[in-house]
Amino acid sequence: MNIAVRYYSRGGNTKKIAEAIAKAIGVEAKTVSEPLTEDVDILFLGSAPYAFDVDDEVKKFISGIHVSVGKVVNFSTSAAVKSTRRYVEKLLAERQIPVAKEEFSCRGEFMMLHKGRPNEADQEAAADFAKGILA
Ligand SMILES: Cc1cc2nc3c(=O)[nH]c(=O)nc-3n(C[C@H](O)[C@H](O)[C@H](O)COP(=O)(O)O)c2cc1C
Repeated sequence: MNIAVRYYSRGGNTKKIAEAIAKAIGVEAKTVSEPLTEDVDILFLGSAPYAFDVDDEVKKFISGIHVSVGKVVNFSTSAAVKSTRRYVEKLLAERQIPVAKEEFSCRGEFMMLHKGRPNEADQEAAADFAKGILA
């Protein structure tokens, strides 16, 4: 099975989760600035909301997908919303790329909120989640 991890992270929170997921499944976590170069069965795609949307870099990455993707597994860190799923789902639907019903989301530090998140427990939970997807 071919698996890839891509993420966008302005402040490093989502990067921590991307790396925990990637380590758990034995692949490298790369940023969305690195396009997919071969077909993948599962793409773990990480993002965070900024003013109720994902960054344009994430949108650019999705519109630039020119390989076959079996399904996307969304993961995100956020301060308030549950996840970024709603923002990426519509972009992926336009590309006819299925989104798994399972997703990982946790709190990410933002100003005075959620100090230290994602913490070690969040990273462990992300690793367990990723292993569960592959099981
Ligand atoms: C400019 C800005 C706007 C944000 N807007 C939102 C938002 O609309 N909803 C939300 O839940 N969190 C929002 N956040 C919080 C971030 O999504 C959260 O801190 C996330 O963990 C950041 O991930 P990153 O460190 O990978 O960039 C915002 C953060 C910043 C810096």
